[in-house]
Amino acid sequence: MSSIELDHVSKLYANGAYGVRDVDLSIGDGEFVIFLGPSGCGKSTTLRMIAGLEGITSGELRIGGRCVNNVAPRDRNIAVVFQSYALYPHMSVRDNMGFGLKMRGVARAVIDEKIRDAAGLLGLTPYLDRRPAALSGGQRQRVALGRAIVRDPVAFLLDEPLSNLDAQLRAEMRLELVKLHRRLGRTIVHVTHDQVEAMTMGDRICIMRDGRMIQVGKPLEVYADPVDTFVARFLATPPMNLVPARVEGRGDGLVVVGDGFTVEVPPMHRPAYAPLAGRAVIFGLRPEDLHEAPQPGFARIEVAVVAMESLGVENILVGQLGTGDGGGKDTAKPQEISARLSRHFTAPVGARVPLYLDPLPMHLFDPETTRAFPRPSLRLVTN
Ligand SMILES: Nc1ncnc2c1ncn2[C@@H]1O[C@H](COP(=O)(O)OP(=O)(O)OP(=O)(O)O)[C@@H](O)[C@H]1O
Ligand SMILES: [Mg+2]
Repeated sequence: MSSIELDHVSKLYANGAYGVRDVDLSIGDGEFVIFLGPSGCGKSTTLRMIAGLEGITSGELRIGGRCVNNVAPRDRNIAVVFQSYALYPHMSVRDNMGFGLKMRGVARAVIDEKIRDAAGLLGLTPYLDRRPAALSGGQRQRVALGRAIVRDPVAFLLDEPLSNLDAQLRAEMRLELVKLHRRLGRTIVHVTHDQVEAMTMGDRICIMRDGRMIQVGKPLEVYADPVDTFVARFLATPPMNLVPARVEGRGDGLVVVGDGFTVEVPPMHRPAYAPLAGRAVIFGLRPEDLHEAPQPGFARIEVAVVAMESLGVENILVGQLGTGDGGGKDTAKPQEISARLSRHFTAPVGARVPLYLDPLPMHLFDPETTRAFPRPSLRLVTN
């Protein structure tokens, strides 16, 4: 059993700073969980507390149902792989991988067998007699993982292990880790800054900010239904467009009006959003929900092209909404939005172009609290 439970866990550092505040999280046996958040939000602190490398100020940590607040790291049987692989430079790959077991007095034959299995799993068999200096970054990374695997831990904690790798190696290792998880079936907590890793690797994402876990869920759930503007902006590039607006009743319907756009609230969302009539809101829409061609139900808006980025597979248009004078207030910042359009769409900077907005995936947020106003999810939740 290798479930990991954090029960109101906090970490107050000696200097009075909170590393982690009141985190409640239950990680299932064999689950692959991602910690995602900006620098300094408490990802490593949480990992280090689970591993026992950092004491817990308050709350309880349970592994496999047992409280481990006072259990030494070596008795938790959890392996940590850090961003800096921390390999011994004077030892061969084989000895680096076997060192921990040797220190524990495990028989040589057993160690050799575990190293052979792990090296096979990680594609390291040809490199067992090399030293780390003679390996590529990705190979070193795999040695660090191999060293963790031979220990046969109940869980792996990976603290940005891929961040030193170039984009291609990173993508390869991402897949390798997912395969490894499938084969070993062990609990993995993976810390990353990378949204693609976060979206693709784990069963669940935990989004952290300022020491708190602000949203935990399946990647597509968090993507479709962010709890606040921070999560809405954090999880994708380009991020969700967030524009100041106002909700107004119009006849039987409901509209969202902002500088340069009026969007009818789709019937499905009316019951949830009707109480907001007359209120200022933040209108949120992802760049992929703006299109270059009209469709029934879409709202036409016009933008002035600020930039066109051609990415090969698609073009990102950055456009300025409205007149740019903020409705007559010359202090107002012109409102820019991004649209993910086809690679065939181009327009010169400065041109005014129509875009067609799909209102169904819209979100409305409270400008005071930044929280999303709840509405029914569009996602068919599948388990
Ligand atoms: N030993 C320490 N003493 C005091 N404060 C610390 C200590 N270690 C971390 N902190 C603070 O705790 C907070 C969380 O740090 P942590 O290392 O967990 O962040 P992180 O999310 O891993 O960031 P990064 O993405 O940069 O690695 C930060 O504000 C950090 O400055
Ligand atoms: Mg960190």
